[in-house]
Amino acid sequence: MKVLVVGSGGREHALAWALSRTPAVQVYAAPGNPGIARVATCLPIAATDLPALAAAAEDLEIDLTVVGPEQPLSDGIADLFASRGLRLFGPSAAAARVEASKAFAKDLMRRWGIPTAAYQVCDDPDSALRAVRRAGGPVVIKADGLAAGKGVVVARTRSEAERAVEDLMVRQVHGAAGRRVVVEECLEGEEASVLALVSGAAVWPLLLARDYKRAGSGDTGPNTGGMGALAPALLPSDAAASALAILHRAAEALAAEGSPFVGVLYAGVMVTRDGIRVLEFNCRFGDPEAQVILPLVEGDLAEAMIAILEGGAPDLRWTPHAAVCVVAASRGYPGPHPTGYPITGLDAVPPGTLVFHAGTALREGRLVTAGGRVLHVVGVGATVEEARARAYAGISAIGFEGMQYRTDIGAAAPRGATVS
Ligand code: AMP
Ligand code: GLY
Repeated sequence: MKVLVVGSGGREHALAWALSRTPAVQVYAAPGNPGIARVATCLPIAATDLPALAAAAEDLEIDLTVVGPEQPLSDGIADLFASRGLRLFGPSAAAARVEASKAFAKDLMRRWGIPTAAYQVCDDPDSALRAVRRAGGPVVIKADGLAAGKGVVVARTRSEAERAVEDLMVRQVHGAAGRRVVVEECLEGEEASVLALVSGAAVWPLLLARDYKRAGSGDTGPNTGGMGALAPALLPSDAAASALAILHRAAEALAAEGSPFVGVLYAGVMVTRDGIRVLEFNCRFGDPEAQVILPLVEGDLAEAMIAILEGGAPDLRWTPHAAVCVVAASRGYPGPHPTGYPITGLDAVPPGTLVFHAGTALREGRLVTAGGRVLHVVGVGATVEEARARAYAGISAIGFEGMQYRTDIGAAAPRGATVS
């Protein structure tokens, strides 16, 4: 069987690696990266070049395409592949609006009684500034459209909020994505990532995960694309049950409104004092959540996705282990950061530790840094402590100029229940 993975980051490396564990599966990736090239044949096609991706899937007689990033899904890759009779595991552009338009997602949640922060959709700066003033205290300003994970500002003060409105709506630092914004109530609590394989109203939960978004240890510094992850994450059992109910409700809502979701549906939730609230929906695997969820899958991932696409149920089981992912990032990330530094020590990473490439490149045969998040180092173990020790043993073997990482990933994991 031939499977094509679309994308080029750590999530896609984890997908390609997990798929390649089935001997009968031959993995292709577009465009891939030097790490992915160890487990897949990389095709020089951008993840956003939908016609070229469809042509390659036809030419190579690909049996299944799995899409990592949100942009091609929002651009309609699932619709294009369906129109050509090509099998793809991912939502239509209409269903991908749960991620691609925050206003769409918030209104859907309001219509279907899914708990979320109080909010207002604003189409011009004046109404956004009025909403900020009305809120009084801290608010969160979110670009409506896709902004590569950078379109959310948690504003503690009025002037920060006003600056965010100015940046998004007037200066348009994220282009058209910020022409409309959502101004919402600022919540406090513990966050979790709740993912499931979904087809229409049917939902098969994946392991609950936790993403560490802040750049610095102890949850300090700016938000990033994710500096680490842990699975299975634990939530109080009532919150875990509510989290799962939310995914069922969202899947039901999308199906009932004529945009049935097929693929990975992801709710980013916060457990507040008043109960669970949805912060966002994503229409794909989380990055770096995929890097900790996929190593714990037992069973054939491609078969599971094909079973779902053909109207059946997936046969996925989980190893009773834990996984911890620590990100090795470039100095300065998430701000401007230099790249092009040689990466050393990958051969010295102990067995049992996985290294997924995110921002790497080959230059004259040498592996060098090529992005903010460079490597995702994943330890798997019988306990979180063991997984954590393996991840940190791996990362201490690796080096590059300016490498930075958090030292507290997986430390002091809270106790409670998980969803699967
Ligand atoms: P999002 O992309 O919507 O998940 O937002 C990115 C991050 O911003 C979240 O993981 C939270 O840490 C934070 N965030 C988003 N919405 C809120 C909110 N209403 N209150 C507090 N923090 C939030
Ligand atoms: N880990 C957050 C995301 O994938 O959006």
